[in-house]
Amino acid sequence: MFDLTAPPDGFHQDPYPFYRALREETPVCWQPDGTVLLSRHADLDEVYRDTNRFISDKKAVFGPKFGVGSPLYEHHTTSLVFNDPPLHTRVRRVMVGAMNPRALAQMEPGLIALVDDLLDQMADKVQTELIADFAGAIPIEVIGNLLGIPRDERGQLRDWSLAILGALEPRLTEEQMARGHRAVSDFKAFLRHIIEDRAASPRDPETDVLTRLMQTEGEQRLTEVELYQNCIFILNAGHETTTNLIGNALALLDRHRDKRDRLIANPGLIDTAVDEFLRMESPNQLGNRLAATDVEFHGETIPAGTDIHLCIGAANRDPRQFDDPDDLRLDRRPNKHHAFAGGPHTCVGLTLARMEGRIAVGRFVDRYPNYTIGAGAVRGGRLRFRGFAHLPARLD
Ligand code: HEM
Repeated sequence: MFDLTAPPDGFHQDPYPFYRALREETPVCWQPDGTVLLSRHADLDEVYRDTNRFISDKKAVFGPKFGVGSPLYEHHTTSLVFNDPPLHTRVRRVMVGAMNPRALAQMEPGLIALVDDLLDQMADKVQTELIADFAGAIPIEVIGNLLGIPRDERGQLRDWSLAILGALEPRLTEEQMARGHRAVSDFKAFLRHIIEDRAASPRDPETDVLTRLMQTEGEQRLTEVELYQNCIFILNAGHETTTNLIGNALALLDRHRDKRDRLIANPGLIDTAVDEFLRMESPNQLGNRLAATDVEFHGETIPAGTDIHLCIGAANRDPRQFDDPDDLRLDRRPNKHHAFAGGPHTCVGLTLARMEGRIAVGRFVDRYPNYTIGAGAVRGGRLRFRGFAHLPARLD
């Protein structure tokens, strides 16, 4: 039986044969801890859309996992993603408003300049490390700009974000848990001066997320804890996921050189290609919901109160939804993948993430059309987030 807390050998390298077996043989896969894993596209669709039967509040799960009142508990139970209305609606409305088309359009020239600058810096090297030197460097700057974090203070954001999101893994060592708690506390302390500075000098709320979050009023007003924890969430949410998108895409294109050549010859394919990378190697492989009532899937009853894992990585290769799901088709359309989840919690940053993917991957292959990934590539080794820790490449 597939156990999320003890994945089989070879899983991190290639989870897809295991996902296929889950989808076809045990679409309702009970876990030893009483949780359950769903893996078919239509089942995830149903769960994401029905917020009456499937809720996002995770206090019942995170209490025993992190300890009620602990830093990780406070963070993960206050961020919008693990909440239902009214907190979810209040915070989401502000965030969606701040990522309006005008704000995103304003970001694009800076993003192009950032990517080109990173590509220039690689020009002298024959060998480069695509995560540290490229895929990981882009989102940290984008989100840093989005929240107005001074450039010279962004150094620790990546480690904090990895530690806080890493604490969502199904199985944690004591050390990982301690690192996660410490990261939340340090992050809050760091944000204090950013928030105080912004209170003293607010920016344009049309484009500045933090100013917007701070200027909520009346019933919409966020408490101090809600403000801090949702700032931390937005920094985290857009970071590892986007790094994984860029790294996974460059690795996929290295494995499929004919497709890479096609993309270079037809740069207009980049929009559909980015969605295909997101489908084939979803940066976020697992989501969760709690059954609010007894629910039934494939003749099995899932009792109220059950923690349901949603296997995005498996659903995105479901042949009931996608023709030839293991084939990388740069022009796949329609492509209704769940890489950004679905329903009312659909990723707020999806347009920004697609823009980052389009600019980073498109410009990289254009500049270094013959790159090759080296033998030292190392997967991140996580279940929830799929990406690379190291991705060495030759650029000639
Ligand atoms: C390739 C990059 C990204 C992927 C794959 C991704 C994926 C996801 C997924 C799967 C969820 C839903 C979680 C759930 O409800 O179970 C989500 C939510 C969210 N994401 Fe993203 N994300 C990405 C980039 C970003 C960026 C760049 C931002 C912001 C700057 C962002 C902000 C958010 C927010 C605020 C939510 C919470 C939405 C809600 O609960 O209503 N994400 N993302």
